[in-house]
Amino acid sequence: MPNIALLGCGGFIGSHFLDAFLADPDVRVEGWDWTPAKIMGHLGRPNFRFHPGNIYGQADLEERLSGCDVVVSLAAICNPSQYNTKALDVIDSNFIQARLIADACARLGKWLIQFSTSEVYGQTLAHWATADGQGNGDPALYEMDEEETPLLLGPVASQRWSYACAKQLLERWIYALHKEKGLDFTIVRPFNFLGPRMDFLPGREGEGLPRVLACFTSALLDRKPLPLVDGGSARRTFLAVEEAVEALRLMIAKPAMARNRIFNLGNPANETTIRGLAELMRRTAAEITGDPGYHDLPLTDVSALEFYGEGYADSDRRMPRIDKALNLLDWRPSMGLPEILRRTLEDAFRTHGPVRL
Ligand SMILES: NC(=O)c1ccc[n+]([C@@H]2O[C@H](COP(=O)([O-])OP(=O)(O)OC[C@H]3O[C@@H](n4cnc5c(N)ncnc54)[C@H](O)[C@@H]3O)[C@@H](O)[C@H]2O)c1
Repeated sequence: MPNIALLGCGGFIGSHFLDAFLADPDVRVEGWDWTPAKIMGHLGRPNFRFHPGNIYGQADLEERLSGCDVVVSLAAICNPSQYNTKALDVIDSNFIQARLIADACARLGKWLIQFSTSEVYGQTLAHWATADGQGNGDPALYEMDEEETPLLLGPVASQRWSYACAKQLLERWIYALHKEKGLDFTIVRPFNFLGPRMDFLPGREGEGLPRVLACFTSALLDRKPLPLVDGGSARRTFLAVEEAVEALRLMIAKPAMARNRIFNLGNPANETTIRGLAELMRRTAAEITGDPGYHDLPLTDVSALEFYGEGYADSDRRMPRIDKALNLLDWRPSMGLPEILRRTLEDAFRTHGPVRL
């Protein structure tokens, strides 16, 4: 196993990456993040060196990267509530700063595994071509293929697309570095990973508006209504974060299969609406706590304007084609959504109460 540079190691995916990789004493990881709050248990490990603070402010960054075999870049602002409210920061983080890492990898001859997003597919053909945006049963409209599907972003004033646009430009920058400067790259497009430690729970671990999983978890812990933006009719597929990390392990173990390719990572078998996700989370909370009262928590409709502010929009349905990951990496995601949510909510309730499990 190679030496790995992990940028954004203290976040949701990064913390699971460390859980999986540091167990192998042959792996060495250099990690960067603002804070180690989610990875405190790993700080003393002999095969892990942590660099706190802003990645881009570190004078020895390039020297450290040059000692690694592969650079995995997770660092980004990736919270939907900021796409339309802090678009300058979002574009800065997801393109202007992230490209500095890609440039350094090209200069140093390092393999870059860059985390992009399924949002590069934008609002999708299903949205533009069918009345309900769901694709009218035609998979060609809602299934996303890495090589063939067009990337369809909304208008500029719809600032929600700042994130998708910055990630798309980063992908194009990396591809151009490959073509013109010989950079070896892998681009990963995550389709909604779920698991413990995603974002923060407002009022407990931070302030602001996290992604949907943490919003619903927080509502359950506080026994408050679960907010459904625009009725919660958007459909998503969900992948266990542990299975995403396994795909990453396979990429690193099989460089000839992974290099210079783009991979969707997701689980098409776990498709549901956001309303379906909220209902399943209520049911799971009732099951793990033995308290049927969770079934009765209301789901309240809230408009996107009210919840996210001006300039928000969304894609109604997107589902990954994952043949590439299945065939080239021999990767098989299998964890069902009920099991993913059980693990996630057990972790949240164990950590934050109010019920002892
Ligand atoms: N989780 C998903 O389902 C999902 C979906 C689509 C895309 N992604 C992409 O995967 C990557 C990781 O996602 P995540 O869910 O782990 O996000 P996250 O926010 O939990 O982790 C990102 C980490 O990067 C760190 N970071 C950002 N800028 C930094 C800087 N300048 N200096 C130091 N640290 C910095 C943050 O502190 C954070 O811990 C992101 O690039 C994201 O766009 C994730």
